[in-house]
This record gives sequence, C-alpha cells and structure tokens, in this order.
Amino acid sequence: MQVIDSIEGLRKARKAITGRVGVVPTMGALHEGHLTLARQARADNDTVIATIFVNPTQFAPNEDFNAYPRDLARDLAMLETLGVDVVFTPTPALMYPPNFQTFVKVDQVTQGLEGDLRPNHFRGVATVVSKLFNLTQPDVAYFGQKDAQQVVVIRRMVADLNFPLEVAVIPTVREADGLAMSSRNVYLTPEQRAAAGVIYRALVAAAQAYDEGERTPANLRAVARNVLKTEAQAEIEYVAVNDPSTLIGVHEPAEQPLLLSMAVQIGRPRLLDNCLLPWSLNNRDGLTATLGV
Ligand code: PAF
Repeated sequence: MQVIDSIEGLRKARKAITGRVGVVPTMGALHEGHLTLARQARADNDTVIATIFVNPTQFAPNEDFNAYPRDLARDLAMLETLGVDVVFTPTPALMYPPNFQTFVKVDQVTQGLEGDLRPNHFRGVATVVSKLFNLTQPDVAYFGQKDAQQVVVIRRMVADLNFPLEVAVIPTVREADGLAMSSRNVYLTPEQRAAAGVIYRALVAAAQAYDEGERTPANLRAVARNVLKTEAQAEIEYVAVNDPSTLIGVHEPAEQPLLLSMAVQIGRPRLLDNCLLPWSLNNRDGLTATLGV
C-alpha cells in the first residue's frame, strides 16, 4: 500500500494506474462504516484509493476540528488489511495553501436539515470533495448513507460540474443496538452510549408505522419524536421528512419514497441518522437509485 502526502506524488501514482478506480474519502478515525466502504470499493474496482483528511473548511469555529479523533497509524493498518492500494494523507497546508480562494457552493440541497445548523459545512465538503475527485480521478466514489444530505449535495455537484464518475451509496453500518457508527461516538460516556440506542428505535417505529399504512409526514415525525422523548438525555434538534431526491420537505401524505432524518444531541455529540421509507429501500441499490439525482 502506497501512502502519499504530496500532490505531485499522488498525480504520479494516479498516472501509473490503469483500470477501474474506486475512491473512499474519509476524515480518518476509521470504523466499520468506513471499512465497509473500502471493502465495497475493493470488490468493485481494480484499484482502491482512500483519502484521510480532517478538512478544516467543513468545521465552524465552535466545532470540534482540533478535538476530532485522529489515529493515522491505526487507520493505515486497517486499510492495508483490506487491500487498499493507495492512501492520500495531505495536511491542511497542502490542501489550502496561502491565497487559496476558490470554493464550491451547491445551492438548494445544502439548505435545511444540517445546512440550517451548520451554515458553511457543505461548502467545505463540496470544495474538498471536488479537489479529491480532481486529484484521484475515480470511476466511482463511495459514501455512506448516514450523512444522507452530504450524499445528495455531492451527487448534485457531480452532475452539475460534470465529474465523470458514479457515486455509490452504501447503507449505514450499525452497532448491535442499532446506533449508526460514527467517529464522534467516542465522545459518548458509557451512560450516553446506552441512551443513544433510542435513535434507531425511533427510526424503526416510524418505518413500522409507514409499513402499516401511515403516510402523513407529521404523523411519521410524531411517532419518531415520541420514541426519542422516552430518553431523557436525548435533545431533539430535528426530525424531518423530505423528498430523498431534492431534499424538499414533504408535508402532505405521499406514496413517493421519503427520507426520514433526525439530529439528536446526547451529551457532547450531535448524532445523525436517517432511513428511507419504505424500509426496503435501505440497501445499496435502493439508496443509489433514490438518494439525490
Ligand atoms: O464524510 C466525511 O467523512 C467527510 O465529510 C468527507 C466526505 C471525507 C469530506 O471531508
């Protein structure tokens, strides 16, 4: 496995690669969710490139950029075991040299949900992901369902800026009690970690109501909220029902697929989760066909 920390080094390595290339962009602190993306990339492609970069431009000044968990040696050992070919590990100074002033701003789909609470977050994500796409020139890029709005933003950007690649959307990987895997779960105390299982139970309850015929978005949201309220440590930021392709809020009963998403603060971290309704869409094909363009 080649570990590369320079632009010239990556360009040179990329030039020597032929065949189908899959890229797995990450911020490190890898968990089973990332490893599932890398395994999928390994199964689908001739060459797999992973990137590890904690991207400063997607963090607001009051967020956890400095505290974000970092363990490069552990991450590299994990990627090597999976047969990843190249890992790009740039520094912030390499990605954002002095006088850097070009950003990618995706309009509508960055509004609402996370975009309301983290105003510049998706500008940072779209900018760094477009730089990583330019540098790695993948045929397919792998992203996890857990950050559903990020998937929709990246797919919009790929379509609008004509990046010649596919975006594969891989289902959320969960702990035994259903908590979505996230690098920020390490911030939970054992007691908060036990409480966090409520988020998955809320998704499942709403999905069951949907299966039993409930189609009114306010009622689906209420089912999820009522479960979340059973956990005193859970502070609900939002529970939303949106069109999974456009992220426009859905307020009337509808037969179209729906994206049910939520952000819940438990202790320090904000925990995000979502599912498509009907639940049968929460697999790679269903997600890839339904989430975003
Ligand atoms: O999902 C992430 O880990 C990040 O937002 C990404 C896509 C690697 C961009 O920094």
